[in-house]
Amino acid sequence: MLFYLARHFVIELMMNFIKTHIQSNIATIIIDRENSLNALNSDVIMELNQSFISCMKDTKVGVIILTGHGDKAFIAGADIKSMSLMKSSDALNFSRLGQELTCNIEESPKPVIAAVNGYALGGGCEVSLACHIRIASDNAKFSQPEVHLGLIPGWGGTQRLPRLVGKGKAIEIITSGEMISADEALRIGLVNHVVPPAELLNRSNQIARAIIKNGPKAIRASLECINKGMEMSLTDGLDLEVQLFSKLFNEEETTEGFAAFADKRKPKFR
Ligand code: CAA
Repeated sequence: MLFYLARHFVIELMMNFIKTHIQSNIATIIIDRENSLNALNSDVIMELNQSFISCMKDTKVGVIILTGHGDKAFIAGADIKSMSLMKSSDALNFSRLGQELTCNIEESPKPVIAAVNGYALGGGCEVSLACHIRIASDNAKFSQPEVHLGLIPGWGGTQRLPRLVGKGKAIEIITSGEMISADEALRIGLVNHVVPPAELLNRSNQIARAIIKNGPKAIRASLECINKGMEMSLTDGLDLEVQLFSKLFNEEETTEGFAAFADKRKPKFR
């Protein structure tokens, strides 16, 4: 069930497993299935996807932060108990459902920050990989342990992990299934920052506030150029940049940005 509460400019959207708080243009989506370490079954994935779609459509939201409830897990992966009952045809649909979620996150026109507050394992690591920025608490642990179950990652890990940390490191992580610490994740470029657990949401909000000050169309174009450009030749990527750079000159926010510079004042984008 979905309902809204407006109180002191904080909007809360509550579903069975997902809670969303919206304040000062920042939406925080919290996965709340703590007794299963926030593992994702089909119901949780569908709710999570719905929450992202709502935030992407909501004009009050400029940046989305994703985190897990509690101090132990971001997401401990796909729900192993429900997967153990699946046939190959069910697994195909389950993998597609998880990929629909991760693609939606990755293609979000609004930046998505993963605030990784503990275990990010298997599908949990894959959801974090789809986010645009990852901040980890110093007790976070990452792994792709699917091989321990006789499986491979199914929500994009074999594709996004090598693009982020390089082929050799990704092969080691995926074929060993071993857990890596937050510090090691920082060293190999899997996360952007590591902070004490009590600082995790503050740091994530600080980055969100720095982004939100800027023109939403410029942010959207930046994400589009980087995301699409990574899949293109350099020549095609540079051409995409020329197209989106020049298109922004038709936007009011760009006119405002130039005017604010000339007036020696801060631009008003939102
Ligand atoms: N699925 C379902 N339930 C899970 C779960 C998961 N991925 N991870 C943890 N849980 C449940 C446990 O079964 C346990 O429930 P019960 O109390 O009902 O037994 C509860 O969460 C607490 O877990 P533990 O008692 O195991 O806690 P711990 O501190 O001893 O260990 C852990 C924590 C190391 C994360 C351990 O739970 C673990 O290894 N979990 C599995 C992680 C994993 O393999 N994830 C990858 C799944 S495969 C995947 O994600 C495929 C894909 O790419 C889409």
